[in-house]
Amino acid sequence: MISLDQIKAPISKEYEEFKNLFNTVFKTEIEQFTNNFSDQFQANEELLRRVVKYVSNKQGKHMRPIFSILCAKLCGSVNDVTYRVATSYELLHTASLIHDDVVDNTLQRRGQPSVNAVFDNRTAVLVGDYLLSKSMSFISSTKNSVLFDQLANLGLMLSRGELLQLQHAYDIPTEEEYIDIIRKKTAILFIASAQAAAISANANSTQYEALTRFAEFLGICFQIKDDILDYSPKANIGKPTLNDIREGKITLPLQHALKISSKHHADLILNAVKEGNFSEEFFYNIGLLVARNGGIEYAEKRMYYYKEEAIKALQCFPESETKVALINLLSLVLERDY
Ligand code: IPE
Ligand code: IPE
Ligand code: MG
Ligand code: MG
Ligand code: MG
Repeated sequence: MISLDQIKAPISKEYEEFKNLFNTVFKTEIEQFTNNFSDQFQANEELLRRVVKYVSNKQGKHMRPIFSILCAKLCGSVNDVTYRVATSYELLHTASLIHDDVVDNTLQRRGQPSVNAVFDNRTAVLVGDYLLSKSMSFISSTKNSVLFDQLANLGLMLSRGELLQLQHAYDIPTEEEYIDIIRKKTAILFIASAQAAAISANANSTQYEALTRFAEFLGICFQIKDDILDYSPKANIGKPTLNDIREGKITLPLQHALKISSKHHADLILNAVKEGNFSEEFFYNIGLLVARNGGIEYAEKRMYYYKEEAIKALQCFPESETKVALINLLSLVLERDY
């Protein structure tokens, strides 16, 4: 399997530029609260400083910024605006994960206790809001209202996706409903990352549309894989597994398994989930059901279908090292075990 380091190699200079900018944002935030003693109020914001430091110490895979850089490069130019949108979107992503762990009652993130676990839910909600606002102020520094509109729309769509998921908690969504949810809650960030990168590179409309489609399918694959990994207790993903079912989320592997089991069996499982009956035996039986009914294989099959659609979307771009890197990133999303 190709590694993320191999994908980053041809864009190492650009990736370093992004990282410098992203880390400067955190550093400035932390120093602002430590050093600026002339401002009594800021100097006292110890809690905010501690949480921001905690979050910045353990960062994620940076998949979306890497994706943005590759998209801009494919369209011919990685520049200051590209780095700004990549930074803004990674801040939004970080904020969304801090909120997500409150919503999903999760106590581990990126291999360490989540913000809500170390501090509390109130702190996590407020710091998530803070980083989201930071993301907005960062995009506004580009002075490009199209990019600002895009970020706002992304926030609307992501919230709608999360609410739609909540609306379907404890029921079995159809596959169309499941795809609709993941398109809104996850693919949208990849779509916006591609579109903003394309705008930063002055892409033409053919390039913009092609990257939008590629990003949509990549994002769908990303979430299907994340949902498969949730059923892979041995995977090293830095966050708890078997968590979706605890929250009443019936994702594709289980959705498929329940669809082909008897109504009686499906009702028994849904009732156990509603009652919060999460014994060892329950998880063993869920694992067995998903395995026996080919839930993982089915989810993988659907993921490979979207992968093919994603590759087709790039047809208008001539062959290049960057195009290869984008397709490698797509393959990595499907094959990763982290
Ligand atoms: C996690 O995204 C959230 C989902 C959309 C599943 P990542 O797996 O990219 O998280 P980090 O940023 O690398 O931690
Ligand atoms: C996606 O879903 C997260 C967001 C859109 C913020 P999950 O809830 O499955 O993400 P993880 O598994 O906790 O990272
Ligand atoms: Mg969630
Ligand atoms: Mg979650
Ligand atoms: Mg998940």
